[in-house]
Amino acid sequence: MTVLDRETLHASLQDPALESIGFLNEIMGCYPDAISFAPGAPHPDPYTELDATRYLDRFLAHAAAESGRTPVQAGRLLYEYGPARGLINGIVADALRRDQGIDVAPESVVITVGAQEAMLLTLRALASSPRDLLAVSDPCFVGITSAAGLLGVGVVPVTDTAEGLDVDALAEACRTARRANRRIRACYVAPDYANPSGSRMELRNRRRLLELAEQEDFLILEDNAYGFTAVPGTELPALKTLDTGRRVVHIGTFAKVCFPGARVGYAIADQDVRTARGSTVPLAAELARLKTAVTVNTSPVCQALIAGMLLEHGGSLAELSRARSALYQRNLTHLLEALDRHTVAGLPDGVEWNRPGGGFFVRMRLPVPVDAALLEASAADYGVLWTPMAPFHPGGGGTHSLRLSCSYLDPERIDEGVRRLVTFLRAKISGATGGGVDGRTDGRTAAVVRR
Ligand SMILES: Cc1ncc(COP(=O)(O)O)c(C=O)c1O
Repeated sequence: MTVLDRETLHASLQDPALESIGFLNEIMGCYPDAISFAPGAPHPDPYTELDATRYLDRFLAHAAAESGRTPVQAGRLLYEYGPARGLINGIVADALRRDQGIDVAPESVVITVGAQEAMLLTLRALASSPRDLLAVSDPCFVGITSAAGLLGVGVVPVTDTAEGLDVDALAEACRTARRANRRIRACYVAPDYANPSGSRMELRNRRRLLELAEQEDFLILEDNAYGFTAVPGTELPALKTLDTGRRVVHIGTFAKVCFPGARVGYAIADQDVRTARGSTVPLAAELARLKTAVTVNTSPVCQALIAGMLLEHGGSLAELSRARSALYQRNLTHLLEALDRHTVAGLPDGVEWNRPGGGFFVRMRLPVPVDAALLEASAADYGVLWTPMAPFHPGGGGTHSLRLSCSYLDPERIDEGVRRLVTFLRAKISGATGGGVDGRTDGRTAAVVRR
């Protein structure tokens, strides 16, 4: 039998982030009854209202009206390969213009297999030499750092503050790279309620980042996964909305506002690319050319489902996401209130957390190392799970922080989960061992919960 040593395979397979995701999945499997603040997955309740047949019909009626064909003739679109750049680009471009003031032609849109593929393609297109580096906010979504690892692109961590990416630190990183004969080719940032920090980039900071991109000649990869969770009236303009110099590639996903099983996302890439023959094409067209070597095209059936959902909401992303946005605001408020309520009696010194105004995530700092052993104890003895932050820190920090996600839980479970967490922290940080003080379990229950 052929046995391959992992060391002989591509180095990206040794990415510690992959290891920790594997560990987290394993531990969730071992403690299925634990309340888990770990998954950043969308809440499943809205799925019961979804009607795939209706969405497909809606899209086909639209496609037929646009092309002068019958819906049955248009139905062929669903069964064929389809263009690499996508089928629903016009619908997505219209929605972005209407809702976010991002005014681009359909040709500047490429529909991808989730935001993940958009990140991979954009990074592949931009990083053309070993000199090219990707700056990322630190902490950072592992999807982008893993993509960089897969492509062998060097990552430069830049501190993320409560007001978002530290633009001065990024300017310094550009200078440092130049001195080493390298260049920051692109900077990844999720300006709205980032995963995992929950931070939001202030408007002033957004403008400064755009100015720096112009000065230092890099592109910004803007990941807009959580922008829709802002409380109405508190939204800030997307970087792409402010982007007069076409510095921003805007990356979006329908995973959170529709459903992740569709695996549909997009990149808005309206930068001009000069071809060898002297003509210009949008960067999106180049991304689509690369896509033919990755996934060929995004499933037409899945694109049609998403477009049908959008059309049902008047073609408006804001309308489409209104109910979801309210659900996540409710959950986040509940999580923050539960943390306040369960800690009125005090907590050990050094336990603190941020208070994001949107998104799925709250970051908590502890005065003790947050590692696999701590997570195991939390799951086994107190029946509560969360995510250690260290894997999100390409710069090596985060050893004393954890991430709490409120997206997948109902308010009662959030409340009970916080109660367990706080009991655990009191016992653990004050030096007590095991559960049972005021906690949920004793050794016997832990053995039952464990599988
Ligand atoms: C910051 C960020 N970007 C993008 C995504 C989703 O990407 P996809 O569309 O590939 O599911 C996630 C999901 O967890 C995320 O947290």
